[in-house]
Amino acid sequence: MDLIKNDFIEFIKQRKSVRSFIYQKIDKETILNILEGARWAPSGNNSQPWRVCICIHPTVKRMVAELSKYGGIIEDAYVNLVIFLDLERGYDRVKDLQGIGAFMENILLGVHAKEDIGGVWIGEILNRKEEVNEIFKLPTDKFELMGIIAIGHIDDAREKVRSKERERRSIDEFTEWY
Ligand SMILES: Cc1cc2nc3c(=O)[nH]c(=O)nc-3n(C[C@H](O)[C@H](O)[C@H](O)COP(=O)(O)O)c2cc1C
Repeated sequence: MDLIKNDFIEFIKQRKSVRSFIYQKIDKETILNILEGARWAPSGNNSQPWRVCICIHPTVKRMVAELSKYGGIIEDAYVNLVIFLDLERGYDRVKDLQGIGAFMENILLGVHAKEDIGGVWIGEILNRKEEVNEIFKLPTDKFELMGIIAIGHIDDAREKVRSKERERRSIDEFTEWY
């Protein structure tokens, strides 16, 4: 059991944001499998307040990419999962956001579990969230953009080593024992 648990910590530690992709198809089954893991995320009251636009079409990708300074990543990714909070399903602002965070982390871990595939959470796009709603024809009073997870086959040659960004605070620094 402990061995499995240690493997799990290693698995979490090895996940990292991937921002360089080669163009190669990711099949529908793989995308569905990632979402299968995501939908088991916890949420307050089990409200499951997520809505996902699975964005693969180059024209749609470009429209989204134009709204972000990370547009290059969005365009290069084979698929972008555009995640909205379904405000009618939600019931408590803080808890809804926490549930969405759990959902999105499950996606990142699901992506990491696939060979040669990586992903990154793009939050910067929130600066233009209303325009993202327009692209997907979702009313802003019902759906609120939470972020995008860009997913693609990892381009090892272009992917930079970002050791500074991957540093983590020590446990001591953020804990107190009582
Ligand atoms: C809420 C949130 C927003 C983020 N927004 C962006 C973003 O807009 N662009 C980007 O390149 N990375 C973004 N990231 C990825 C972080 O930069 C990255 O997770 C962090 O630096 C730690 O690196 P790691 O994921 O490789 O461990 C975001 C991550 C989170 C959780």
